[in-house]
Amino acid sequence: MYDYLIVGAGLFGSVFAHEATKKGKKCLVIDKRDHVGGNVYCENVDGINVHKYGAHIFHTNDKDIWDYVNQFAEFNNYVNSPVSISKGKLYNLPFNMNTFYQLWGTKTPEEAKTIIESQIKEFGYKNPKNLEEQALSLIGKDVYETLIKEYTEKQWGKKATELPAFIIKRLPVRYTFNNNYFNDAYQGIPIGGYNKIIDGLLKGIDIKTNVDFFKEKDTLSSLAKKIVFTGKIDEFYNYEYGNLEYRSLRFENTKLETENYQGNAVVNYNDSNVPYTRIIEHKHFEFGKQKHTVITKEFSEQWTTEKEAYYPINNDENQKKYQEYKALSLQESDVIFGGRLAEYKYYDMHQIIASALQKTKKEFNESV
Ligand code: FDA
Repeated sequence: MYDYLIVGAGLFGSVFAHEATKKGKKCLVIDKRDHVGGNVYCENVDGINVHKYGAHIFHTNDKDIWDYVNQFAEFNNYVNSPVSISKGKLYNLPFNMNTFYQLWGTKTPEEAKTIIESQIKEFGYKNPKNLEEQALSLIGKDVYETLIKEYTEKQWGKKATELPAFIIKRLPVRYTFNNNYFNDAYQGIPIGGYNKIIDGLLKGIDIKTNVDFFKEKDTLSSLAKKIVFTGKIDEFYNYEYGNLEYRSLRFENTKLETENYQGNAVVNYNDSNVPYTRIIEHKHFEFGKQKHTVITKEFSEQWTTEKEAYYPINNDENQKKYQEYKALSLQESDVIFGGRLAEYKYYDMHQIIASALQKTKKEFNESV
């Protein structure tokens, strides 16, 4: 008899399994995919780690979480500095002094600030009612129209005027020449890929892949005293209150016999006439020196139940449904819900690790 059946071998399930095993508990980890790692899984294509479910850059301000992941893999000093192509011109991201120079030729923070503030005054709204009004109120017309509008419309498949304002809560603006996308103290890519971290977490633990919990629910549940469930909470309750909605992605991978396709790991494509939102060139995450390269075009797509669920659509309707599912989950004594799908929430990797560590702590304080 196992102490825990862990449904989902993503970061949440793997951290929980690792910590529970350290406490002497016996775990069985299952996943419906043919591999462990969940969305951080990397596929090795001729020596290049391809981020199969989208580009993953580890970043955190939390020293404890940084030390935690460094137990399993060393990290390189990759710094995410994406660029964006708009109407044939390249711009640095996030919005900083380089971007403003490329847009207006401004050379000092004072000059850039004057333009942004005057555009906010002219085009902004006191009570923004949609994403467009919100963005105009936060950053003004030029940055919005050059680097936000069409990209965001592709991402969500809707006009910016039809999207809710809350999607953009703030738009970080930097008046320094700093292209480092994240503000965090620690950042990098695990040397050898994310699989190394997952393999380290799951070392010595029983694993079964290609196993869908819902296809053998009773048999699997009978194997353990408790279940840790990291799949979709609405599926767990048989969609009793309806589907929780997501935005999906499609990835088109191409191996090219060229050493360096775009000179950067992440290049965004802002224009609406380009169907994908960005191209990832994976070798640059690890400073690869191969003679070939692998690129991924990322397309944003409408989600249907057969597709991978990527980004929760956090509108009132879905939140209401989620709260109903959550209320059901709180009545369970032998099922622990955690991770992005069970909590219907976008989490970065460092946040999911923190959340899994917290849940394990809670579990063991209570039961030990
Ligand atoms: P995850 O989805 O990884 O794992 C859940 C697992 O459960 C899956 O393997 C699934 O197959 C399995 N499962 C579900 N139902 C099941 C069932 N019925 N039976 C068996 N198994 C089942 N974060 C960051 O810090 N930096 C970044 O750059 C990025 N980039 C990024 C890009 C994109 C496109 C996305 C969507 C997300 C990111 N993230 C990120 C976030 C990161 O992916 C996320 O924090 C973790 O992968 C979440 O781990 P979980 O374990 O919660 O879910």
